[in-house]
Amino acid sequence: TAILVLNGPNLNLLGTREPGHYGQTTLIDIQRDLEQTAQTAGYRLDFLQSNAEYVLIDAIHRAPLEGVRFILFNPAAFTHTSVALRDALLAVALPFIEVHLSNVHARESFRAHSYFSDIAVGVISGLGAEGYALALRAALSRLAQNHM
Ligand code: DQA
Repeated sequence: TAILVLNGPNLNLLGTREPGHYGQTTLIDIQRDLEQTAQTAGYRLDFLQSNAEYVLIDAIHRAPLEGVRFILFNPAAFTHTSVALRDALLAVALPFIEVHLSNVHARESFRAHSYFSDIAVGVISGLGAEGYALALRAALSRLAQNHM
């Protein structure tokens, strides 16, 4: 059983990109931390970042075939634009938590709308890199409850 962590465009630049909004932690730091937690709990963690919408869509399509039971997803700017990624998540019907490092409600008004929030298990926004760890903790307790 695996948990898939998906990251959208520009998140490869974490650590140097607008640190006021996104902090100093790099995506590799986040990946390592999550892998350690998942491994301790006995789950495989698949981690992917892409700047290309179709790569994220293809990863979502493959997920059920690869034993993924839960997705943590920071769609980054695709949050506010992508009907295609929304449809991919609906197609595979895997539970997911939407994660944002910054508080999208405290920024430009176009960031307040998400194509994902209404179909997500839950949303974490504004807690920085810790948001991923909190999302993983929630995913693990749900998987344990469902004996998955
Ligand atoms: C983000 C918020 C989005 O509005 C933005 O486009 C990002 C990152 C976040 O993690 O805070 O790229 O998803």
